Amino acid sequence: MNLVDDAARLRRSTLAQLTLDDERGARLRLRSGPLHADFSRQLVDGAALDRLLQLAERAGLERMRTELAAGEALNSSEGRAALHHSLRAEAADAADGEAASHAQAEAARAAQLVQGWVDKLRTDGLGEGREVREVVNIGIGGSDLGPRLLAEAIGGGAPGPRLHFVSSIDAHRAADLIARLDPAHTVVVLVSKSFGTEETLLNGNLFIDWLSRALGAEGMRARVFAVTANIAAAEKFGVTASRCLPIWEWVGGRYSMWSAVGFSFALAHGAAAFRRLLDGARQMDRHFFEAPLARNLPVLRGLIEHWNRVALDHRSRCVVPYDVRLALLPAYLQQLEMESNGKSVRRGGEPVAQPTAPVVWGGVGTDAQHAFFQALHQGTQVVPVEFIGVIQPAHPHQAHHRVLLANLLAQSAALAYGHDTRDSDDPLAAHKHHGGNRPSTVILLDALTPEALGALIAMYEHSVFVEACLVGINPFDQWGVELGKRIARQFLPALSSEAEAAALDPGTQALIREIRSR
Ligand code: F6P
Repeated sequence: MNLVDDAARLRRSTLAQLTLDDERGARLRLRSGPLHADFSRQLVDGAALDRLLQLAERAGLERMRTELAAGEALNSSEGRAALHHSLRAEAADAADGEAASHAQAEAARAAQLVQGWVDKLRTDGLGEGREVREVVNIGIGGSDLGPRLLAEAIGGGAPGPRLHFVSSIDAHRAADLIARLDPAHTVVVLVSKSFGTEETLLNGNLFIDWLSRALGAEGMRARVFAVTANIAAAEKFGVTASRCLPIWEWVGGRYSMWSAVGFSFALAHGAAAFRRLLDGARQMDRHFFEAPLARNLPVLRGLIEHWNRVALDHRSRCVVPYDVRLALLPAYLQQLEMESNGKSVRRGGEPVAQPTAPVVWGGVGTDAQHAFFQALHQGTQVVPVEFIGVIQPAHPHQAHHRVLLANLLAQSAALAYGHDTRDSDDPLAAHKHHGGNRPSTVILLDALTPEALGALIAMYEHSVFVEACLVGINPFDQWGVELGKRIARQFLPALSSEAEAAALDPGTQALIREIRSR
């Protein structure tokens, strides 16, 4: 018997039958800190779960978990460790090895630097009685999505500067901000681990020019910060050394929001909220590194994801937070999961034997119900859904909130159990039939506190690691984004020179002709 046999057996079973089994339910429901996860509506049984746990054992998950904690160079293609968890540790926490201990010390020093600047800017402002009213975070990918998610999820209501984000090279956003912000009261934070990302540098230049023209070189320099692992490049760009906040090669961009990448968030919403976020993630780290695999939330989720992708061949997963403050979560998870695990080769470079990362997509409930849920309930493609709910709202309208939660519960139940109209004499019976047996997970947060958000994101990070271990890939590199960047640099001159365009492929030449003609 193997996973394929398990999958064949379970395809013939129904969630209606499976969910009657209390013992199975107990294995598939798990609490860790402020999170409760319910995987009981996944098309999996005890025997399949045992097989997945054996697979994890054979894949060396426990050993790799220890290596991750200790800061071994698990990012083998770049020869780097992945020590994002060290960013969440407290000074008194015992580190698991020299690399982790070093990272923890570096992280503590950087956190102090961040705290110092946050206190100074929030208390003293920018000099000449000018308080900070606006913070512009310029960065893309992991240098944007993390702080942006934090700001939307837990930044609401706090007094302090307004936080804006500029990521894409599409200059509409930058132009809009430049037209309406007052440079004298604005701080610009250039976030780029490499300090070589074209979008960030070009957008950074726009804002530096704008500040310089309005306030002179000194006024500009007092307002521009960099968060980077390439401090030399940031200084060359014009950022003063004392305003360069470090990150390091051992933190991947999509795992970096726990570092000084959170500076703009901390500046706008206070360093205390940021520390609470780290505390929540730290609790999840402890759970992941210490709990037995069978009762370990990131492990269980990773096994279920593997089951859906590899055994049941579900090619996409839909993420639906029932909380508008988490609207950015699907986009955040797209980067985390698809950039981490969208790979075709194993750690050693040989082709991977199983399918890897599903397409991750989603939207906010209940809006999503009125948009794409039709296809989730009756479409020909079964898409597992991950529902995220928040038990205690941050507003006083309890009646609204009960309706929201009822909708979440109803959607998960409707997907699982369907509605059989085949025996009805309604002429529209075929249209109204819901086959059910469509898997979903429900994750409930006690409340959307910084701690709960930290725990949730850390849970996803570790779960992505588990999935990577099961198929033997490196989740910490991203070679696949390099080719397009390089080609864009080649294509740029072709937009303004016919001779350059003539050297390109026929398809691109045709598109360039069309662009030129307009
Ligand atoms: O293009 C992908 C990527 O390398 C991401 O991994 C990263 O988060 C993003 O670009 C931004 O990179 P940087 O922080 O170096 O500007």
